[in-house]
Amino acid sequence: MAIPGVHAVITGDVLKQYNLHWMPTLMSDTQMVLPTDTVMYQSQEVAAVIADDRYIAADAVEAVEVEYEPMQAVVDPFKSMQSDAPVLRTDKEGKTDNHIWHWETGDKDSTEKAFQNADVVVKENVYLPRIHVASIETCGCVASFEPAEGKLTVYMTTQAPHAIRTVVALVAGHVGLSEEKIRIISPDIGGGFGGKVPVYPGYVIAIAASVVIGKPVKWVEDRSENLQADSFARDYHMSVELASSSSGKMEALRIKTVADHGYTDAAANPSKYPAGMFSICTGSYDIKNAFTEMDAYYTNKPPGGVAYRCSFRVTEAIHAIERIVDVLAQKLDRDPADLRMQNFIQPEAFPYQSALGWEYDSGDYPRALKLAMDTIGYDDLRKEQAEKRAKGELMGIGLSTFTEVVGAGPSKDFDILGIKMFDSCELRIHPTGKAIARFGTKSQGQGHETTYAQILAEELGIPAAHIQIEEGDTDTAPYGLGTYASRSTPTAGAAAAKAAHKVRDKARKIAAHLLEVSEEDLEWEVGKFYVKGSPEQSKTIQDIAFAAYTNHPQGLEAGLEATHYYDPPNLTFPFGSYICVVDIDPKTAEIKVRRFVAIDDCGNIINPMIVEGQIHGGLTQGLAPAMYEELIYDEDGNILNGNFMDYLLPTAVETPNWETDRTVTPSPHHPLGAKGVAESPTVGAPPAIANAVVDALSHLGVENMDIPITPYKVWQVLKEKGAVA
Ligand code: CDP
Repeated sequence: MAIPGVHAVITGDVLKQYNLHWMPTLMSDTQMVLPTDTVMYQSQEVAAVIADDRYIAADAVEAVEVEYEPMQAVVDPFKSMQSDAPVLRTDKEGKTDNHIWHWETGDKDSTEKAFQNADVVVKENVYLPRIHVASIETCGCVASFEPAEGKLTVYMTTQAPHAIRTVVALVAGHVGLSEEKIRIISPDIGGGFGGKVPVYPGYVIAIAASVVIGKPVKWVEDRSENLQADSFARDYHMSVELASSSSGKMEALRIKTVADHGYTDAAANPSKYPAGMFSICTGSYDIKNAFTEMDAYYTNKPPGGVAYRCSFRVTEAIHAIERIVDVLAQKLDRDPADLRMQNFIQPEAFPYQSALGWEYDSGDYPRALKLAMDTIGYDDLRKEQAEKRAKGELMGIGLSTFTEVVGAGPSKDFDILGIKMFDSCELRIHPTGKAIARFGTKSQGQGHETTYAQILAEELGIPAAHIQIEEGDTDTAPYGLGTYASRSTPTAGAAAAKAAHKVRDKARKIAAHLLEVSEEDLEWEVGKFYVKGSPEQSKTIQDIAFAAYTNHPQGLEAGLEATHYYDPPNLTFPFGSYICVVDIDPKTAEIKVRRFVAIDDCGNIINPMIVEGQIHGGLTQGLAPAMYEELIYDEDGNILNGNFMDYLLPTAVETPNWETDRTVTPSPHHPLGAKGVAESPTVGAPPAIANAVVDALSHLGVENMDIPITPYKVWQVLKEKGAVA
């Protein structure tokens, strides 16, 4: 039946004719664009309708009839690993199980020995549940193929436009989409948080449809599609063990993880790191022996592995270590702050080589924790807690003293699909002393337009208001790997400084020409060169810019511009100390976050107000999985909370008053001494909250609770422990 206004109905079989029914994921797995015979999870797209408007499309979608025959679903990764589990990826020739990969790092034998010799060993199973990035704006695109020019322009919500362009060229080169004819434009986008790094079927279908019908095609996910069908974060089952001496010196850490990746590994990790930077799991502590191993499995769920506001798996790692440190404190009957202070990597030990292979650039953990304790009045709170406990009231104090690892990355170790993880800045100074700078990153609301302009203003003396910043258009911006994992300041921020230095080097030559002195006779002061010993003889950057186009020295190229591709020598290691105080109503089990102090250290700060905003937002995104968010599936693979009525996001009402402060420990290798910041709070907050709730219940013998810690879970625990009627 033809429906007026419908241009095409696309199925997997249609795409198969062009070999576009499967596509590669960023982890070199494969993902269906549209299925030809088997769907892998509830809510998977099965057909696409291209119509004049969304109302006609919605009606036409209703007319699509799909005959489903139920198959046995595998939802639990522990069942998926059983030998009798149905093999899910039958498309993979010779695949006889659901195992995706095994990854391990550290010294297994020395760790084993340290465990055997330790006075005390604690062990806990810690689960970080499946959650979903819930950006204000869902994913979408407008794909426009212009047949006359053979040019494809795609406006899309992507955090990594250049990588997308290359992927489109590699995947669809055989149907004539060549990289020089592909333009990806990532305009202002409403939040990314890692969820807008992968390629989703909707993008591919819109592109294919535009090529086929020769008209622009728009695809915008609705909220339910976004929540149920694009990709997911976390879902790590971690078995965590920590060994110590009887005096509390941590000796060894061991973590064994089962990772649920859904039906395909669509994580956006650097190729060499299938578990991202999970090996930061020794955290802020000087633990000499560590070993971690992980196995990933397929299940009948949407693709998993998005690095939701985190450096590829740091949230999971930090949750594991920060929880187990509290378990150890409880076992040793030690104050958790005191135990942390005893085991911190000391400030003079930096650069510090971790047991799992990272070189931490700089840090001062005792200072940050002390500031957090002084700010919140830690000793008084402990006294208050003891008094309350005696009266049967429930109050808890939770700490999280985390170390992050951001700024991927040094290209010798970091690439995505083989593309090295550098980033870039192209800077042009106009004759009138104004500038435009373009970057390979892409802000999704982090304020790059402000902070990059500030960096250049500081380095060149051109007012920030006179510097135009552009990102996100692959026809104009220099190649870069995009924005996620707090990499922008460590990489593109550094590229900005380096490009400015190159411009300054040339400006020096022009200034020497204008002032008729040698370059060595010149001194730089922000905004001008002057002759050593006679500061009145000077040329401003604006004078020099004008001369670069009107009076440049013969033999020197005209113009004043530079491009820098920055390949960081190391990652940056921001850190923080968070303390959370909760009160739990013993009758209703309602949990109230009374206070939350967050001390962050991201090295030198470019814009304190933006950093503050990043921390506030990140803390609320840390509160969310700690107390509210979890995607729940039943045994048949039906999602039980696929909308915002059931999948709870905290609003301003639930958000406590964040009390923030900072210490500043510059990065020794970053040109500005800056470290990334955007995800630290999302990483640091959940264990602080979980530790506070467990602390409130620890006298009842509670050692661990998995997030989200809801009032119902607490009520169940209280009931189990006989603490409520
Ligand atoms: O990659 P993404 O932009 O998400 O993360 P980021 O590098 O941590 O930066 C987030 C925002 O905070 C950017 O506007 C940065 O320039 C700013 N920032 C800052 O002002 N000072 C720092 N030390 C780190 C970030």
